[in-house]
Amino acid sequence: MNRIEVCFSPGEYHLYEADFQLIVVLDVLRATSAICTAMEHGVKEIIPVATVEEARTLQAQGLLAAAERGGQIVDGFDLGNSPYSYMKPEIKGQTVVLTTTNGTKAINMAKGKDTVVIGSLNNLEALCTWLIAQEQDILVLGSGWKDKFNLEDTICAGAIADKCLESGHFFADEDSTVAAKFIFRSSRDNMFAFLKASSHRRRLRKLNLNDDVKYCLTPNNCTAIPILKNGSLVRLIHETVESASI
Ligand code: MLT
Repeated sequence: MNRIEVCFSPGEYHLYEADFQLIVVLDVLRATSAICTAMEHGVKEIIPVATVEEARTLQAQGLLAAAERGGQIVDGFDLGNSPYSYMKPEIKGQTVVLTTTNGTKAINMAKGKDTVVIGSLNNLEALCTWLIAQEQDILVLGSGWKDKFNLEDTICAGAIADKCLESGHFFADEDSTVAAKFIFRSSRDNMFAFLKASSHRRRLRKLNLNDDVKYCLTPNNCTAIPILKNGSLVRLIHETVESASI
């Protein structure tokens, strides 16, 4: 039996991390949905950096760089955090440097662990199939909003925990995991409506990004599982999902 737990935000990561070497990082709106989409559409590698300054330095060295703060593309960058911008053919095969308000910060916090993978609702099924096959304790880390709890990451974390627990191979001890599971179960029939009151959904609506929100809340339109290798996110090659999708 392995353990799976949910940590709501980077602000609480220090309370959970000691027991886990496999971390799933989520930022449903929109960083990790964009990263899964990028890998699905053939982006070769994403270098997640915590600060805009780091992204500018790598951009000055000739790399394609993307930067988002507060939901908007940062001045001086051509790309931000919209999953749709990572579907474009010209981006296929490229290396992209990415910094976002919360998502890349959470990825960087987790990077000392043996295994860091990227989750979203978009790759939910593929990710859970792979996670169950690992037979390891798993921490699901939501990126939240500036170290606070958010609903969308909790829904996705609850979906992952629910699936893993249902497999019969996992147990959970923490109330955060139980709460995430219940929030997922209450929202799963209409996540878009459930998130009407969520702060980041409101923020993105004001920026006319409702289409991005709808895309990010669409389960299982990707099978790619991004994994952190030497500081870069690349598509995980694995038997469980690749052979199932052939
Ligand atoms: C983040 O990293 O905080 C988000 O992805 C913000 C966004 O929606 O652009």
